[in-house]
Amino acid sequence: MELLLLIVLSLSAKFSFGFSEWTHEMVLDGEGILRVQWMAMPGGKVIRFKVTGRTLGWMGIGFSPNGGMAGADITLLWVQDHTGTPHALDMYAKGEERPVLDDKQDVTVESGQQNETHTDIVFLKYLQDCSYNGQDFPLGEGTVRLIWSWHPEDPEGKEDSWTPKYHDRSRRGTRSVYLFSPPLENNLSPAEERNFKKWDILSPDVEIPSDRDTLYWCKIFKVPPEIQARPHHMIGYVPVIEADHEVYVHHMLLYECSLPAHSKLTSSGVFEKYVSHAGAPCYAPNMPISWNYCQKEIVAWAVGSEGEYLPERVGIPLADEHRGATYMMMEIHYNNPTLQKGIVDRSGVRVYYTEELRPIEASTLLTGHKVTFMQVLPPGRPRFTSHTICSEHCTRQAIPEDGIKVFQVFLHSHLTGREIHVRHFRNGKELSPIASDAYYDFNYQQAHILPKPVTVLPGDILLTECVYDTTDRHNVTLGGFSTREEMCLAFLKYYPKLEFDHCLSLPVYESYMETLGIQEFYDLEDFRIRDYQSLNLEDETDETGKVESPLAVESSLIRKESNVLKTHLIVKEPEDLRNLSFYEILHQTDWNPKVSEKLQFRFLHGKHIPICRKTGQQLYDYPKEVEYPDVSEISYHKCLKASGTRPNFTLSFTIAFLFLFPLHFLH
Ligand SMILES: *[C@@H]1O[C@H](CO)[C@@H](O)[C@H](O)[C@H]1NC(C)=O
Ligand SMILES: *[C@@H]1O[C@H](CO)[C@@H](O)[C@H](O)[C@H]1NC(C)=O
Ligand SMILES: *[C@@H]1O[C@H](CO)[C@@H](O)[C@H](O)[C@H]1NC(C)=O
Ligand SMILES: *[C@@H]1O[C@H](CO)[C@@H](O)[C@H](O)[C@H]1NC(C)=O
Repeated sequence: MELLLLIVLSLSAKFSFGFSEWTHEMVLDGEGILRVQWMAMPGGKVIRFKVTGRTLGWMGIGFSPNGGMAGADITLLWVQDHTGTPHALDMYAKGEERPVLDDKQDVTVESGQQNETHTDIVFLKYLQDCSYNGQDFPLGEGTVRLIWSWHPEDPEGKEDSWTPKYHDRSRRGTRSVYLFSPPLENNLSPAEERNFKKWDILSPDVEIPSDRDTLYWCKIFKVPPEIQARPHHMIGYVPVIEADHEVYVHHMLLYECSLPAHSKLTSSGVFEKYVSHAGAPCYAPNMPISWNYCQKEIVAWAVGSEGEYLPERVGIPLADEHRGATYMMMEIHYNNPTLQKGIVDRSGVRVYYTEELRPIEASTLLTGHKVTFMQVLPPGRPRFTSHTICSEHCTRQAIPEDGIKVFQVFLHSHLTGREIHVRHFRNGKELSPIASDAYYDFNYQQAHILPKPVTVLPGDILLTECVYDTTDRHNVTLGGFSTREEMCLAFLKYYPKLEFDHCLSLPVYESYMETLGIQEFYDLEDFRIRDYQSLNLEDETDETGKVESPLAVESSLIRKESNVLKTHLIVKEPEDLRNLSFYEILHQTDWNPKVSEKLQFRFLHGKHIPICRKTGQQLYDYPKEVEYPDVSEISYHKCLKASGTRPNFTLSFTIAFLFLFPLHFLH
């Protein structure tokens, strides 16, 4: 009797644990053959995975620095055909070659079976601490590249000498993922639960092209009328993915659209006409210019996440009338790796909102590089950093004594972005980074929900540093809105809401002049005074008659910006460069390593122009130029002390992060 009870208890425990508590799930391939589910175990040192595949042979999943086999930490899984025994082997690959067994096995099988068609295996993976041994990839915060493969047959051999048969190209792939994004926790109060409302923001039957594997689709939406009529708070969101479209919908972003306060136009004047329109490919030259004002991210979902609820007591105001935004732009990244034809999608996000206003309002602070062509990245550099500062003068004025609490961070750069770090300094000491991604993937943008809100106090300094790889670029890359241009931004969600919304910087012009041998421009003062970042929407408003086809309406913002750059900043001295524009010089420069390193040195040791702004363009009072603090590369000394070795930078950073944040949120 007691035994029976025990069995029943343990069965039910197993049932609830094994089947209902997976916090993350992802289909790995384009045909839905491999599916992985996972959950971080309490204590934060173990992850439990379940891999299900439409195969009776082996399945492999692994983690790697860049999506390739080199340096990958792989788990090989299969159920032995005749005996039914499940196996999980901890392996690693040194290069594009057959993986070999780790010296130490850090995975254990919990269960596994196969039927006529499918295999599923549940296993535990024990995580590495600081002592990276070249075999177990350190899994931590930020993006990791999950690699997968499978084969219709079991590996050959026996104990200790299993050899998987080679997987062909169609049976392997890679996906980016945040393993540790916190699970969706419903923290609604009973009153809210009763009163919350849903706003479904869905793609308008977007036809996914079958002639290319990637589409970024953007569309303008307007908040429901009651939100304009009365104040409401957004309190969370979940993804709404059309059935069987998990493989196509890769990530979704929702941005608030707001014009600068000095603009003579109104947001309804600019955006209302697009609400009924089906949308446009994002950031293409013919995307309407005004959509570039839809910049403040409020939802950032990527595959593998179940959505997010804001912290208890915190809400985000909606509608222009109530200190929020009325118009929003949704950006959906579609993937169609197998080029399926005739896929029409209506996926999107469901935003939860309520009239039960929460006591604390949240807002977004933008840090990083001002979006401008004055962000210069030399070509052919495997690792070039844009250094930016949110200066102490700015935080001292903008932030009240009790500080603000940052609870979520969205990191953003474009195609050449590889790492983004938001470093945090107080009284000359570096604290743990507020957010950090050592393996940034443009195609995988999801908000980083912080394990615990981080307090930023008046006088703190934030350094947002973006690392780029321009080895495949032959020309200089400049900052801008198109994906071929670059950005370096971090959107910090914080509470309580202040007027404080921009804390950006750009290097002083002298950094470029010194590097490129320019002594004097004819029109530098003039150039400094004008704000070229404000987009000119005049052409757009002239075109309101053409509402049916906004795709044809606009000329390119980027073209305009570079025209400005081509005709301004004309060199006066020295004589051999005279009358060339800065733009021409940037494109003619021989960007050999010496010149690029000189520029990099100036960013780190030269001055920067801070931009510190309240909502609506009002500036705080601060010095025109500030020094970059005396720091070199992001520090990872804690981990080095623990491990006694100095692994390569990118890996070591992840290790350090794991060490600094022992995953408290998993408890
Ligand atoms: C075989 O297993 C898979 C997944 O584990 C399941 O979806 C499928 O229904 C099973 N098939 C049969 C015939 O039981
Ligand atoms: C890139 O540089 C080459 C040579 O300097 C030039 O001919 C070409 O027009 C440039 N391309 C762009 C897009 O600027
Ligand atoms: C540079 O431009 C100025 C004004 O346009 C002109 O007077 C001068 O002759 C030009 N100098 C050279 C070297 O081309
Ligand atoms: C660091 O990288 C270099 C060159 O890529 C490589 O030779 C070296 O073995 C690496 N060191 C470690 C500890 O991974």
